[in-house]
Amino acid sequence: MTLVEYYRTFAEVEARGVSPIYEAWALGVAADPEVLTLLKTLPGLKAQANLVFAAARWRGCPLGEYEEFRRWLLANWSITRATVLARSTQTNEAGRCAVLLPELASIDGPIALLEVGASAGLCLYPDRYSYRYEQSGIVTVLDPVAGASPVVLRCVASDGTPLPERLPEVVWRAGIDTHPIDIGDAAEENWLEMFIWPGQPERLPTLRNAAAIATAEPPLLVEGDLLDSLHSAIGLAPTDATLVIFHSAALVYLAPDRRSSFVDAVRRTGFTWLSNEGGSVFPEITAQIPASMNRGGRFILSRNGVAVALSGPHGQSLERVPR
Ligand SMILES: C[S@@+](CC[C@H](N)C(=O)[O-])C[C@H]1O[C@@H](n2cnc3c(N)ncnc32)[C@H](O)[C@@H]1O
Repeated sequence: MTLVEYYRTFAEVEARGVSPIYEAWALGVAADPEVLTLLKTLPGLKAQANLVFAAARWRGCPLGEYEEFRRWLLANWSITRATVLARSTQTNEAGRCAVLLPELASIDGPIALLEVGASAGLCLYPDRYSYRYEQSGIVTVLDPVAGASPVVLRCVASDGTPLPERLPEVVWRAGIDTHPIDIGDAAEENWLEMFIWPGQPERLPTLRNAAAIATAEPPLLVEGDLLDSLHSAIGLAPTDATLVIFHSAALVYLAPDRRSSFVDAVRRTGFTWLSNEGGSVFPEITAQIPASMNRGGRFILSRNGVAVALSGPHGQSLERVPR
């Protein structure tokens, strides 16, 4: 896919109906040879709209019309480029717990969670959040044992999609990341806030409230590559709990051969493996989605390599894959 096609697809599939400003910026970029020339100097996934737009905003780019964005970007390209190169896409969306929960709740506990590509680790607290699943006009309410959480995750589930009946008992939570985010650090949290798209104000309180939960009981975050550090992190897990290794919007950042090596490594461990990734990440899992399902820009949730559902990229929807 060319950069023009990528930005147009981002606008039309991911941002449309979600973030009018990002839609306009991405459409503007796709039709702007001068800006595209700059973006082409960025290696690989560094030209991702999510990262470029976040870096520009972090450096002070105002939210407004495309013309204003392009003027600002052309004038501030060197600092934006430096930020893009120094940092990475670190969206940490607690909402993704809503699509992981049906699988997590079905596993005999207590469970130990190891997330690879964890960012600040906000997806490691599925037992601390409240859930509201809307299915066929009925809302299923799930709250932590201790009572309703300040983080309330809403998810629309299609008919027939199995919903969890309880929250899991999580006794250990750890993550691996090349750049773990210290959520207690205001500048780092501010970087995470740049991945909340304009037009999605409801995601900000979720991030801040989830950050408060994580700050009160920080997860164990191992700094390192998710493949190189996998075995040492597993070695830290308690042996009297069921270990679940999972990832969400993370394996896309690995080269295909590293992804395959990760899959081989995780399968060899014999532990439960949950994957919540875009459709391009594991073609063999994507191939299991029936042609009758319109995948759109949705992620694929799989368990031990078997596709179980299509999921909204930020955890906003869930549709079971029929068997
Ligand atoms: C888009 S964020 C997703 C965070 C979290 N999984 C979620 O769903 O909210 C991807 C994370 O993966 C991390 N990452 C990317 N490549 C990695 C690698 N090779 N090893 C460890 N972490 C990596 C990034 O630093 C980033 O924090």
